[in-house]
Amino acid sequence: MHVVKQGIIIVLLAAAVLTGFSFSKTPQKITKERLGEMLFFDPILSEDSSISCASCHKPAFAFADTVAFSTGVHGRLATRNTPSAMNVSAREALFWDGRATTLEQQALGPIENPNEMNLPLAEAVKRLNRSKKYRHLFFSIFKSVPNQKYMAEAIAAYERTLETSSTPNDRWLNDEPNGMTEQQVRGRDIFRVKAKCFECHFTPDFTADEFRSIGLFNGTTHNDSGRYLVTRNPADIGKMKVPGLRNVAVTAPYMHDGSFKTLREVIDYYDNPHVKMPDGINRDTVLRQPLGLTEQEKQDLEAFLHALTDDKFVKRK
Ligand code: HEC
Ligand code: HEC
Repeated sequence: MHVVKQGIIIVLLAAAVLTGFSFSKTPQKITKERLGEMLFFDPILSEDSSISCASCHKPAFAFADTVAFSTGVHGRLATRNTPSAMNVSAREALFWDGRATTLEQQALGPIENPNEMNLPLAEAVKRLNRSKKYRHLFFSIFKSVPNQKYMAEAIAAYERTLETSSTPNDRWLNDEPNGMTEQQVRGRDIFRVKAKCFECHFTPDFTADEFRSIGLFNGTTHNDSGRYLVTRNPADIGKMKVPGLRNVAVTAPYMHDGSFKTLREVIDYYDNPHVKMPDGINRDTVLRQPLGLTEQEKQDLEAFLHALTDDKFVKRK
């Protein structure tokens, strides 16, 4: 009996060792997405090899940053707040002013941007070509030496994998267990009707990539005229791309200039934008009348915004 048991254990152990062994020997299949991930986290794409995409787009904060303006090379500051790089696969416009229309085009921007990574693209490509690792990886995926097109393609492919799928709001919509609390459901109604948030933050990611002005631009204290810098159409002065709201509870501070520290500050602003920005230019007509939200309604609305957080970012208690 004893001997048989021991025999079985030995066989099982041997099998475990063997399968474990063969697993570690199988090389991980290298994909475009995986190459893009390596590039996203590699400071090689910055002038002094100190900053990667992930220095500003921090995975623990839904690929956004925790400060109003992120730090690039030589301690220089970015000129706008770092948005989340998650849930971007469906975006038709990127950057706060929408100056890029594809993720491939967008990815090249921060590499060259003097306040961010400050590396000429030709130099970035040269560096990848000097790296044995990257030459090998580009060749096995693209059958080509590293070039600008494939570098952008790989980074964009990785970004397309950063989608949020499992939130209390999604589960509630799909009639699945662990959906929203009663308070969050009340908050959702306020979001859609009384607070009019849905007028701009609609579709599954809570943005339709439109450009709107909530009245933060007044030419002096707030002086980033947004979409106007791209179109030079006076009707666009002060308009910004409506940001998506998935994971918004973990991406503070808020707005293109990071001037709102909490979701409560954001809600108080929308309740009556004229208090903080009496001279906001081009403010959208949806925001003309104060909303008149009660204290309870503000709390419910904030609770709803917390229901948009991917489970990955919910701290386990
Ligand atoms: C120094 C900080 C910093 C670094 C480094 C950086 N970014 Fe950004 N990122 C920003 C800022 C700031 C913006 C917004 C700029 C604007 O709107 O003008 C932005 C915007 C974006 C957006 C647009 C999101 C949207 O919804 O419009 C994506 C995607 C993105 N970055 C990806 C990347 C990638 C890929 C890299 C690396 C190649 C990178 N970023 C490097 C700060 C940074
Ligand atoms: C008229 C269109 C419009 C309406 C209505 C609207 N928003 Fe916005 N929202 C925007 C725009 C545009 C921005 C970016 C503004 C900027 O940075 O200057 C924004 C930014 C935000 C942000 C900051 C997100 C980030 O990542 O920085 C939050 C949170 C937000 N809105 C929530 C709401 C809520 C809650 C409501 C309802 C009370 C609402 N919005 C109503 C257009 C709108």
